[in-house]
Amino acid sequence: MTTIADTLTDLLNTAVKAAGHGDAPVPLAPFVATADPRHGDYQTNYALRLGKAVGPNPRAVAQQLVDALPEHPALGSVEIAGPGFINVRLADDWLGADVVERAGKEDLGLGAPGTGRTLVIDYSSPNIAKRMHVGHLRSTIIGDALARMYRFVGWNVIADNHIGDWGTPFGMLIVAWHEWRDEAAYAEDPVAELQRLYQLFREKSADDAELTDRARAETVKLQEGDPENRALWQDFCRVSLEEFNGVYDRLGVKFDVVHGESHYQQAVHPMIEDLMARGLAVEDQGAIIVPFEPEDGKGLSKNPLLIRKSDGAAMYGTTDLATVIDRMDTWAPERIIYETDVRQSLHFRQVFAASRKMGVQTDFVHVGHGMLKFDGDVVSSRKGGGGMLNLVDVLDTAVAAARKVVDRESAELPEEERAVVAEAIGVGAVKYTDLSQNPASDIHFDWDRMVAYEGDTAAYLLYANARCHSIFRKSDVGDLTAYTPGVILPEHEAERALAITIARTPEAILSATEAAKPNVLANHAFQLAKAMARFYNQCKVLDDANSTETTTSRLSLVWATSRALETSLRLLGLAPVSRM
Ligand code: ARG
Repeated sequence: MTTIADTLTDLLNTAVKAAGHGDAPVPLAPFVATADPRHGDYQTNYALRLGKAVGPNPRAVAQQLVDALPEHPALGSVEIAGPGFINVRLADDWLGADVVERAGKEDLGLGAPGTGRTLVIDYSSPNIAKRMHVGHLRSTIIGDALARMYRFVGWNVIADNHIGDWGTPFGMLIVAWHEWRDEAAYAEDPVAELQRLYQLFREKSADDAELTDRARAETVKLQEGDPENRALWQDFCRVSLEEFNGVYDRLGVKFDVVHGESHYQQAVHPMIEDLMARGLAVEDQGAIIVPFEPEDGKGLSKNPLLIRKSDGAAMYGTTDLATVIDRMDTWAPERIIYETDVRQSLHFRQVFAASRKMGVQTDFVHVGHGMLKFDGDVVSSRKGGGGMLNLVDVLDTAVAAARKVVDRESAELPEEERAVVAEAIGVGAVKYTDLSQNPASDIHFDWDRMVAYEGDTAAYLLYANARCHSIFRKSDVGDLTAYTPGVILPEHEAERALAITIARTPEAILSATEAAKPNVLANHAFQLAKAMARFYNQCKVLDDANSTETTTSRLSLVWATSRALETSLRLLGLAPVSRM
């Protein structure tokens, strides 16, 4: 099975050849879902392009292509519209059968088009000895959704958490640890204590050159493998990762590898030597840089990549270059995606350009996210101090807001179940608020709005799915997951609109993946939930006045809705519940 768009595009391709346009120098324009049902279900503008390029005229070309289309049961009606669009309306019975077959498959009939392709995706990537901040939260949520989507479409995905665990801050921390540590505070909230020590070092070293010299010496000792410094550094890493893992568990996020920046340090010096030997890197006022030409990328000729400072220290980008080489050697990925704050985009353009100069051939993608702002306060369960935001507190705040709504809207559920639903809505709201926007946009947490049962919210989507389950609980079947669907014949307009939305789910997944925009899928899930609500208002599912065929058709549609919705929700990292 494949997508409906692909099925139709294959027919078009056959028609193009049959009509004698097979050698035309115009790339095939696929069929795409129409936004307006008056233009049918799928449309292509290929005849317009072909007509303009080779003639005769677009409408005449459209007619040739329509005449040459092979017979196919999907084709309900085919029309030529406007200057030469070809509009297809699917046959109702074919659409109904497609929905049943598709919804019965784990992959919704997508057919794993990404098989044999490898992706490395670098996301979350917080820094040791520091609290994860909201930027890391966004990176974690968006990166996880992308990793799930790529896996779903068949790619081999390596999810890599590129932890910041190397560099000069560790020498500073080691000095501060010896001077000012509070062991009780470290036992209580280790990351807060490390963050306090680091801050204190910055303040005290501002007018104390001796401290700075000591920190530099400790960094060198650490890098040379001094056992005492190594042990301290390892402990800082351990306590930080424990805290990060608490956030990942709560979010249901997993990585395949967690290689920190330290993992690549041995490769850095040989790499710099290699760059110099090949003339790709040059000395510049005591430092070493990779200079760029105008053709390496816009604005890059004024922004060389600094790979070694005049004091000998390697940089963030140096580690990133060594990381690219290592990833290519280990996995030979076809694509590498980085998800970070959009303000790192120049950095990544430099790293990508330098990698290309080194001969790396892969498809580099930087997905940059915008800012995240809050309305009101985050309830803080710990005394972090210093304006630090604990991400566990952010999640707790969202879940508490959700709990209030659940207690009101789902009052009939038992206490333990309301707690589970509130967790799904609260954590889901944090994710969905992020994922329903273009990654580059700034987002805004409005606690009460984001957990509401109405609106473009996680709760609305979870509710639409819970309603599907509830319909089955009221039917003779009892349990949606035990249902074997029958024939769907979409007769009512609201039934047909729901069926076509279900059938388009794999297309939404595919385009969200290709564009690295989870919001494309989030929006589709919202369309599904809306189509479900409209269908439910207009078509009675369980009604004695229904014929057996109608009841079967509608129950099957409800079943398929839930299958498509749950798949979409899981890809976005949300946890479907069967009762709300
Ligand atoms: N640790 C960095 C930060 O907190 C993000 C690292 C992103 N990944 C990378 N390969 N540079 O900003």
